[in-house]
Amino acid sequence: MDFSGAHILSIEQFQRDDIERVFGTADRMEPYAQRAKITRVLEGAILGNMFFEASTRTRISFGSAFNLLGGEVRESVGMDSLSLVKGESLQDTARVLSGFSDVICMRHPQAGSVAEFASASRVPVMNGGDGSNEHPSQALLDLYTIKKELQGRGRGIDGLRIAMVGDLKYGRTVHSLCKLLCLFRDIQVTLVSPPELAMPEDLLALLDQAGHRTVATEQLEPSIAHVDIVYSTRIQEERFQDRSQADLYRGRFRLNQEIYTRHCEPNTVIMHPLPRDSRAEANELDADLDKNPNLAIFRQTDNGLLIRMALFALVLDVVHLVDKYARDIRWHNPRLPRDQAT
Ligand code: CP
Repeated sequence: MDFSGAHILSIEQFQRDDIERVFGTADRMEPYAQRAKITRVLEGAILGNMFFEASTRTRISFGSAFNLLGGEVRESVGMDSLSLVKGESLQDTARVLSGFSDVICMRHPQAGSVAEFASASRVPVMNGGDGSNEHPSQALLDLYTIKKELQGRGRGIDGLRIAMVGDLKYGRTVHSLCKLLCLFRDIQVTLVSPPELAMPEDLLALLDQAGHRTVATEQLEPSIAHVDIVYSTRIQEERFQDRSQADLYRGRFRLNQEIYTRHCEPNTVIMHPLPRDSRAEANELDADLDKNPNLAIFRQTDNGLLIRMALFALVLDVVHLVDKYARDIRWHNPRLPRDQAT
């Protein structure tokens, strides 16, 4: 894949060597994400960060990643603040906004909307989630996390055993992750959901074509017994036509420390794209797991910053210049080891 100037819309664009390139570039971003150094490589560049749906991680980590590379961020949040509400098309919006930015990140509630926007954009567009379709940067950060969590344990992505749990019908993160896993070999995917929220048939067909073993079930406890990763997801109530229907499924697959201890192999990694629904009626990942060292959910969010920095560096073709425009920080950074903190 030629990253330079490319839109990042779907995992379907990637081959396995592209993934290695993203991960290798993300590794190089570590000193900047840790604030051990700063770089001004994107000084003067502007990110248009357009989020038409709620977001904490994706919006702010795309923005922070761009800032950490020295660029500036212009944000637009919610539908009501743009002239789309006056009937302007997404394509006209793209024609206008791409004149003001060097790259645009976008989240939108409709599947395919980010690709439609990108078709009229003069600058690269990154998909921050389009309805229940895809969330490619999330899948990349999830796989990067899986790789980092499993290294040193004698297990890798080839041969991975993963249980995906929850709303597999509407959850775009698991859709993109399934597509990504199809680039690897010999994966065992256990799909734990109510039948009404099962993984869509087209994604099951892709897993099958890749030669992966899939099992669909409603039983959580036996499904988490022999896996490397438990990947829990939230019931996506915002995708239900009648939101009250989500109440039927919320809280169906709760994981807590007692269930983990009783059923999981030692060191099974617990992941979730977040937000986890912490309301009492849902509580899909109990707070008593927060002390479990195998809970990787906040390492996922930290890795998201590295992956999004890597995507910007690749698409804007500055990977080779990041270190050239670097310097030491001037402030005390308590996150660094004492001998590295200024
Ligand atoms: N994982 C994720 O997309 O989180 P946000 O909705 O907070 O961006």
